Amino acid sequence: MDGFPVRPLNFEAVSGDRLVWSRTCPEFSVFLNALALHVPYFERYLIVAMRAAREQVAEPGLLRDITAIIGQEAHHSKNFIQVNAALVQRYPGLAAVDAQAKAQFAERAQTDSLKRLVGFTAGYETFTFLAGMIILQNYGKWFADSDPVLKALWVWHQVEEVEHGAVAFEVYHSLYGEHEMYRKWMVVVAACHIAAETFKAYVPMIRREGWTRNPLKGLSRMAFCASMLLRLAAAALPVLRRGYHPRQHPLATSNQNPIQIAWRRYEAEGGDVLAIDHHKMSEIVGAALP
Ligand SMILES: [Fe+2]
Ligand SMILES: [Fe+2]
Repeated sequence: MDGFPVRPLNFEAVSGDRLVWSRTCPEFSVFLNALALHVPYFERYLIVAMRAAREQVAEPGLLRDITAIIGQEAHHSKNFIQVNAALVQRYPGLAAVDAQAKAQFAERAQTDSLKRLVGFTAGYETFTFLAGMIILQNYGKWFADSDPVLKALWVWHQVEEVEHGAVAFEVYHSLYGEHEMYRKWMVVVAACHIAAETFKAYVPMIRREGWTRNPLKGLSRMAFCASMLLRLAAAALPVLRRGYHPRQHPLATSNQNPIQIAWRRYEAEGGDVLAIDHHKMSEIVGAALP
């Protein structure tokens, strides 16, 4: 997680019929699309927070990481806003949800205090970091048979979220390290925000997919969304411990995900990460994937 690059990748625009991108687990693609809808607006908020915090940070390593996280998130935001346009086209009910998230984050970026900007960003980045690790660990289950562009986009995003997962935490620690309760409170606030935004987007999506016509199917799809959010919340419990650091999270210490290591190495060697299919991923990881 130390000294990471900015990778200015550009993904081709995807049409609405490709958005249920996982054929092995369609409900996962809809869940992740729902969770992701508001994320590019958070990423713009993060950039405002990190730029403001940079003025107060003196440590050269952290300053370098702040510049890199700003660069990575700017490219995430740009590419995911393009996906949002396709999502709104496929699910017209999302237009208002998308516009509200955009306006809310833009306003808060202007009005929040520095402590709130950095605290909320650190709390929120807890979940992008954990989601990154959980998603990459389940690559075989969710990405084995999937749309190549959206797979490449998600793998890139999740690898970088894991890579820069400690930066916002370290910025908060550098500025407000003694305010441990506020850090924990911001983790809870961010969790509630993510869950609320995900449900707001998920319901019109599963309706449009026709998954609510059968009440039992509708119920099972809602339960899937709730179970995924609970899984993320459960993974966040160690974050509430005193003395927590992202590098010591059990998910980060128990196994270094081979996909993120192989992907980063392949990209650094000049490999075309936009064209990694399932076979190529097995080849660069050096092991058969499920
Ligand atoms: Fe991101
Ligand atoms: Fe991030």
